[in-house]
Amino acid sequence: VTRTPLIAGNWKMNLDHLQAVALVQKLHWTLKDAKHDADSVEVAVFPPFTDVRTVQTLLDADKIPFALGAQDLSAHDSGAYTGEVSGAFLAKLDCRYVIIGHSERREYHAETDEVVAAKVQAALRHSLVPVICVGETAEDLQTHGASAVPVAQLTAALAGVAAGTEVVVAYEPVWAIGSGQAATPEQAQDVCATLREVVAESIGADAAERTRILYGGSVKSGNIAGFMRQPDVDGALVGGASLVVDEFAAIIRYQK
Ligand code: G3H
Repeated sequence: VTRTPLIAGNWKMNLDHLQAVALVQKLHWTLKDAKHDADSVEVAVFPPFTDVRTVQTLLDADKIPFALGAQDLSAHDSGAYTGEVSGAFLAKLDCRYVIIGHSERREYHAETDEVVAAKVQAALRHSLVPVICVGETAEDLQTHGASAVPVAQLTAALAGVAAGTEVVVAYEPVWAIGSGQAATPEQAQDVCATLREVVAESIGADAAERTRILYGGSVKSGNIAGFMRQPDVDGALVGGASLVVDEFAAIIRYQK
């Protein structure tokens, strides 16, 4: 099986809708000028909720071949949940993906494995592909090693997911996020290979072969190639560097 690499830009709480338009247009033209082959690598952007409609309109109007995703969704479909956003709304805005269980949600919004699992189910009810984030803190790494916590988190997130379902997994060691200290390609490969086994046990060997497993945590143009050479790393979830057009374009063009 050949898995199409996925380079995903998680903007986090950055860029208002006007800045979003400027970045997406610049990124598109930068890749076009470089004659980037859009079929060789899938590019996805994850703007804040308030930008999603604007970015959708732009991608559609200018035929820009980026996938669109949101950074979170509600576990519920509709109703009296002030401030929440339904997966139904995201699907209507042509979102293909939704990030679930990012470490910043787990840490600052007390998202437990149960909440993450409920959100995965919500995404699937609306045909969104969940980008399930897992990763160990520096303390977890010391006490349990690298893979124990990510394995437990992914096992919980995939409980109740039907065999063969399309999901994306993002392995993001918490100590590597925004720290400038990325994991080594070998560390990423080790954990990603273990996570692929979890996917196989949870939703089947065929699904595991097709599932893209991303590395995230201080990915830059200077270190992306090392990660992409690993057999079980199928892309990257990029935070800070996805806000800088030339840097993100260089990450997307890691083969060049
Ligand atoms: O979702 C993205 C990750 O949290 C990585 O962020 O690239 O700024 O380290 P970073």
